[in-house]
Amino acid sequence: MQHLQEPLLELDHFAGGIPHARIEALRGENRVVWEPDPYATGGHWLVLHQREIDEVLTNPDRFSSGRGPFLEDMPESLLNPERMSINLMDPPGHREYRSLVENAFRPSMLKEREPIMREMARDIVDKVIDRGTCDFVNDVAIHLPMRVMFMLLGVRPEDERRVVDLTNATLFGDDPRYAKSREAGFDAKKELDAFGVALAADHRANPRETITMDVLRAERNGEGLSDHQFGAFFTNLISGGLDTTRNALSFGLLEFIRHPEQYAIIQSDPALIPGAVEEILRFHNPVIYLRRTTTRAVELGGQAIPAGEKIICIVSSANRDPELFDRPDVFDITRSAAHARRSYRTFGGGPHYCLGIHQARMNLTVMLGEIARRFDNPRLVVEPKRARSMFMNGFSEMQIAFDKRA
Ligand code: HEM
Repeated sequence: MQHLQEPLLELDHFAGGIPHARIEALRGENRVVWEPDPYATGGHWLVLHQREIDEVLTNPDRFSSGRGPFLEDMPESLLNPERMSINLMDPPGHREYRSLVENAFRPSMLKEREPIMREMARDIVDKVIDRGTCDFVNDVAIHLPMRVMFMLLGVRPEDERRVVDLTNATLFGDDPRYAKSREAGFDAKKELDAFGVALAADHRANPRETITMDVLRAERNGEGLSDHQFGAFFTNLISGGLDTTRNALSFGLLEFIRHPEQYAIIQSDPALIPGAVEEILRFHNPVIYLRRTTTRAVELGGQAIPAGEKIICIVSSANRDPELFDRPDVFDITRSAAHARRSYRTFGGGPHYCLGIHQARMNLTVMLGEIARRFDNPRLVVEPKRARSMFMNGFSEMQIAFDKRA
């Protein structure tokens, strides 16, 4: 069995961003390789090529989602079926559950949402445009995904701050700015679930036209979601949709600051923005890895892997594979968007592929369009601060300056 002495998945190795050079070297030498867990006994298998990543993601009978998305096993209290969230389910339960909730995110619903999203984007930029400086992550990038999600779900304005804080603690359990410990992060997830349960009860008592209401009304074979099941779905939407989109937009602006000539292209031809969004998502995947657990002994990439082992698909390894992308380490918005969509694994694959994929693309396209229309010459004031995580790829702060476009 091949075995790495120095693990890739170590928080410090991600302190300066995804270690692409190390991943490239690993991918050159291995398809699948075992390394010890940095913070526990035992270990996990890194999956480095698109072919095996797809095999893992599309075969839930062999590669289960049931032990959760993180390298660390989730505590039993969060794996209890009543709290079960969609991303921890396997078929056939997953298929049934997903059919109850996916209607709200189909592309035709998005068309209806677009005008209000454009209005929100204008308002978000209005709030910073005369200042000439801002913390792009917290003053701009988080706001559109947050406002859209809260509007869709019917979260009341007085609760918004608390939901954002709990989401950050859930996703950034390794970053002391957001959570005291990984356990505190799991506790925050329980609180978010409880918030979702209360939101469902509030909607049943005071019905209003939101996605929450649509999901609560949906039925399959005469059965719908309980308030507890909705609570877990709420956490899933919020934790899946806010920080990922915020980070993708922040990375996008950072690349345009580094490549002003490409910024000039989207300023002069906004029709190129959807393609630019695909390149941002290829170049900087916000979710670093996707975890599954083997349900039985399997063979993967030439390795014999026993049952019960952790399988870790390294998304950026596929996204920057020279066999899939020409000059993969070059940011280039003129690449084929269709090829990027087919080939990157930023939104996962198989039955769990991102439910909010169209919403995410629209958030990014609308927001980037508004920025390109209103900001000239964006620049960094200081180097952005990275969030401490080896699961989520992003920033906690990015101070920028810009000129108001005439
Ligand atoms: C750039 C933004 C986003 C990225 C990079 C992203 C990425 C992902 C990935 C990689 C998965 C698969 C996880 C796995 O296989 O274990 C996923 C699932 C999911 N995403 Fe997203 N996501 C984004 C935005 C959103 C948005 C805006 C929403 C909600 C509107 C959302 C809701 C979900 C949900 C509910 C799942 C679970 C689906 C399932 O398990 O069947 N995501 N996302």
